[in-house]
Amino acid sequence: NDCGPMILDALIKIKNEQDPTLTFRRSCREGICGSCAMNIDGGNTLACLKPIEGSSTKIYPLPHMYVVKDLVPDMQNFYDQYKSIKPWLMQKEERDDKSGENLQTIADRKKLDGMYECILCACCSTSCPSYWWNADKYLGPAVLMQAYRWIDDSRDTMTNERLADLDDAFKLYRCHTIMNCTKTCPKHLNPGKAIAQIKKKISEMH
Ligand code: FES
Repeated sequence: NDCGPMILDALIKIKNEQDPTLTFRRSCREGICGSCAMNIDGGNTLACLKPIEGSSTKIYPLPHMYVVKDLVPDMQNFYDQYKSIKPWLMQKEERDDKSGENLQTIADRKKLDGMYECILCACCSTSCPSYWWNADKYLGPAVLMQAYRWIDDSRDTMTNERLADLDDAFKLYRCHTIMNCTKTCPKHLNPGKAIAQIKKKISEMH
C-alpha cells in the first residue's frame, strides 16, 4: 500500500529503501521518454506502464544488449543506427515558396500516424531474434520503421535514395517477419508492417 502501482514505482522504492546502488533509467514515468524499457516477466516493455502483478516479478535489462550496469543497456549502436537512416526532412531542390512552410494534405499527414509516435525505447528491436544475432548489420524494427516514416512523408523528396540505401541483405532483409516487434511494442505500433511496406516499395522500384 505504500508503493505506486507500476514496476517503475517498485524499482524506485527498492532503490530508495533497500539498495541505493540499483541502477536503471527513467525520466517521464508516463510512457513517453522511452528510458525505462526493460524485460519484465519475459516481455520487453516500459516499467512505468507495466502494473505490478502477483507476488514476484523477474526483471532483466533489454535482451542481447551490452549492459552498462544492472538494468541499463548500452544504446550507442541503436542510436548510431538511427542516425544512419538520416531521420530528418530532406528535399533535393530549394522550393520557390519562401514561407518556410512544408505543407502537406490531411491525407498525407495521416500516413505518418502510427509511426511518428515511436519513442525509440528499443523494446521492439531487442525482442527480435534477427537483431539479437546481427545487431551490428541489421537495422532492426525501430530504426526501419523510422526510415519508413521519412520514406512515406510526402514532403521528403529523397524517397528513392532512402529506399536504395536500405536495399541490403543485412540492413533490411534480415527481417524474417517474426513479428515479435509488433507484439511487444508498448505504444501499440506496428513496425513489422512498416518493414513490409519498405520491402514492397523496393520490389516496385526494380
Ligand atoms: Fe519515460 Fe518510462 S520513464 S517511458
